[in-house]
Amino acid sequence: MFETIPAKKGDSIVALMTEFANDPRTEKMDLGIGIYRNNLGETPIMKAVMEAQKILLETEPTKAYQGLVGDVEYTELMQHFLLGGTKAADRAATLHTPGASGALRAVADLIAATQPDATVWISNPSYVNHQPIMERAGLKVRSYPYLNPETKLVDETAMLAKIAELGKGDVLLLHGCCHNPSGADITLDAWQSIADLANKNGFLPFVDIAYQGLGDGLDEDAQGLHLLANQVPELLISTSCSKNFGLYRERTGAAMVVTSSRQQALNTRALMCELARGSYSMPPAHGAGVVKLILQDDALTTLWKQELKEMTARVTGLRSALVEEFQQKTQSNQFDYFAKHKGMFTLTGFDDEMLEKLKADFGIYIVKGGRINVAGLKEHEVPKLVDAVIRCQS
Ligand SMILES: Cc1ncc(COP(=O)(O)O)c(C=O)c1O
Repeated sequence: MFETIPAKKGDSIVALMTEFANDPRTEKMDLGIGIYRNNLGETPIMKAVMEAQKILLETEPTKAYQGLVGDVEYTELMQHFLLGGTKAADRAATLHTPGASGALRAVADLIAATQPDATVWISNPSYVNHQPIMERAGLKVRSYPYLNPETKLVDETAMLAKIAELGKGDVLLLHGCCHNPSGADITLDAWQSIADLANKNGFLPFVDIAYQGLGDGLDEDAQGLHLLANQVPELLISTSCSKNFGLYRERTGAAMVVTSSRQQALNTRALMCELARGSYSMPPAHGAGVVKLILQDDALTTLWKQELKEMTARVTGLRSALVEEFQQKTQSNQFDYFAKHKGMFTLTGFDDEMLEKLKADFGIYIVKGGRINVAGLKEHEVPKLVDAVIRCQS
């Protein structure tokens, strides 16, 4: 049955991680895989998560199935967390999913079941998994212009011009904040234009928000999402606790649907449950149990928010340090985009040859396409990275 499956080239990020692990140089830098690291290069468990896990271990009464919606209390807390105070809050429903990846797939399956001919529009570039997840659900995927390769910022004119062509049957997938891979986010004016166009032309916005709190702050990072939630009739959302709670391996996320009424939203979620039953059935419980305990407890919430702020401040500090160092050493503003980007990533646009040189000559590992995980950098490595980039460029 499997004889005809050809050998596959492995995932390029995983291959890069392996190469990094096997590199004997002590001064090497892993700026590849998208996880947060502290200044020691570690990804520790957040303190609030540690506390919540202890409580969970002592109080969890059972390991019985939770049901297709997942942890219902968690879904309510997450819905309140993301949509509380908006006009969408009372006409939404939430499904607990295995990470945002699970949420993306749950939403994709929903679109495929209700509107199989829909086209999902993703930014160019976009999160590496957006296209495969949508396509595996049987959906057509096309892209809209996003990044200006010169400025490394969003070309909102080109983006909005394409979005203005979308209509009924189109789904517009947007990054809620901290765009992956570019780090370049759209302005609130652009969010407003998108809301206006959705209302005028009838396309369906879909916000994937996987890094809330890692840009400008928890509330600030949700401003675009909230604007849409207040203005459009229907909205899809996928969200993740992987990064902002550091729960990567616990696979904790949620998919939300905002519809014309709460009942309609519940009907829609019921269909999503039916579709989930045909694949993973129910999501893993542990991560959601942890998030629930944190969000239900004021002291744990405060602790979590404080640590998240510290993580974000570390990345923002690294961005400023990089810009300062580049300005000083190049006497130019060529690299100022590092400080204009939000979240963990910056897309440098470094070509394959440059990436190869950085790896071979300096032990600096960056994924193909030139996405740097700024959150993987240690403070003392800033001058070394800047020097290496300048030397590889010349
Ligand atoms: C934009 C975006 N969406 C979704 C995901 C998937 O997140 P999760 O690990 O929760 O599945 C990621 C992860 O890198 C991401 O960057």
